[in-house]
Amino acid sequence: MSGYLDRIGAGKVLVNREPFSFDWTPDNLVGRDRELTELASLFTHIENQNSSCRAVITGPVGSGKTVLTRRFGHDLLGHLEGKRKISLAHVNCRNHPSTSQVLQRIALTLDSGHPERGLSSGEMIQSIRRNLISHNCHLLLVLDEVDLLIRRDNSDLIYKLLRIDEGQEKQGSISLILVSQDPMLLKLFEPAIISRLGASNILKMSPYDKKGLTDIARQRANIACRNGSVSEGVLEKIGVMAAESGDARLAIELLDSSIRRAESSGRGEVLIEDIEQSSARVAAIEPSQVDGLSKDQKLIMLGLCRRLKKEAEINTGDAEKLYKIVCEEYETKSRSYTTFWKHLKFLENQGLIETRSGKSNVGRGRTQYITMNNVAPANLAERIEKELQR
Ligand SMILES: Nc1ncnc2c1ncn2[C@@H]1O[C@H](COP(=O)(O)OP(=O)(O)OP(=O)(O)O)[C@@H](O)[C@H]1O
Ligand SMILES: [Mg+2]
Repeated sequence: MSGYLDRIGAGKVLVNREPFSFDWTPDNLVGRDRELTELASLFTHIENQNSSCRAVITGPVGSGKTVLTRRFGHDLLGHLEGKRKISLAHVNCRNHPSTSQVLQRIALTLDSGHPERGLSSGEMIQSIRRNLISHNCHLLLVLDEVDLLIRRDNSDLIYKLLRIDEGQEKQGSISLILVSQDPMLLKLFEPAIISRLGASNILKMSPYDKKGLTDIARQRANIACRNGSVSEGVLEKIGVMAAESGDARLAIELLDSSIRRAESSGRGEVLIEDIEQSSARVAAIEPSQVDGLSKDQKLIMLGLCRRLKKEAEINTGDAEKLYKIVCEEYETKSRSYTTFWKHLKFLENQGLIETRSGKSNVGRGRTQYITMNNVAPANLAERIEKELQR
């Protein structure tokens, strides 16, 4: 009866799963030489013991921002061996959206011991600095998806980190790379921060084109699959399909799912018809994503989820009414319509909801309809209710 399990690990196509794992970093980035060189040029002084460098990287989803910083960090570490001791800390602000969470992550990376509790952020930063100096170490800190931290807690932490050595004898504790999808990231900062970051230290990544995506899929296939099991035609088709979004993650998912389809049909070769828009996209939203929302946003989401458990869509007028009811339930003052609207746009940007514009049921105007396609509303509602009760 367990014969159906034989296909697992049979490896007719796949010989190495690793290149499809979430945090695998390739030894070489495909087609990003210019970006790597540009980033290196922003770090030309990093060899000097007393200097720090700064860079801001922006680019659309799946343009390789995260993998670029990871590759660069590892390469830099190797390059500076024997010249300057570097510690790498990569904090994804989607998973750690508050100032104290970010500082905890940094402290944990530097020192496997437990960070001290009850310190203010200023004190924690100085404790991190002391730790670096005592180990004669320089920190390369990457704050990935940094707009989520700034939207939640403002840019105070960035400002403090940029001034970490100000007025101190020893300079050059931290180099900083800020990463975001938002091309207008700098607009979120005050002039004092922009001037310290260096308004010209910005690296803009563009979306991949068909060729870039085909090349990325080919690199993974070469490392992961048996020779000859994935044809050039298959790789090109994946490139074409992913080029609509320019997202490298999509190209890799399409390759991964088509390999699975080929193997589960018992074949040792991937065919064009194995490539299908996978439902993997749908899983891209983790329910834990709501944990990082502000209280207002959670209340709005809760109203939406309660309705969308039962109905496919809801118009914004009803959404606002439900939000007000939820506010009463949790004894919270509801926000103005403008703020409510801004939060809706934020939730949409996060991929938690989708909106479409359609004819209104009342009158002749148009209204926005909200749906939730990437995550089950019932699960979210339960999660938010638990959080709010704490
Ligand atoms: N130039 C490249 N060569 C090889 N693999 C790449 C390249 N660019 C991206 N990838 C791979 O594509 C996937 C998406 O890249 P990455 O996570 O760096 O995108 P991102 O710009 O950070 O996206 P997001 O904005 O969603 O965070 C990763 O698996 C990454 O390893
Ligand atoms: Mg990323």
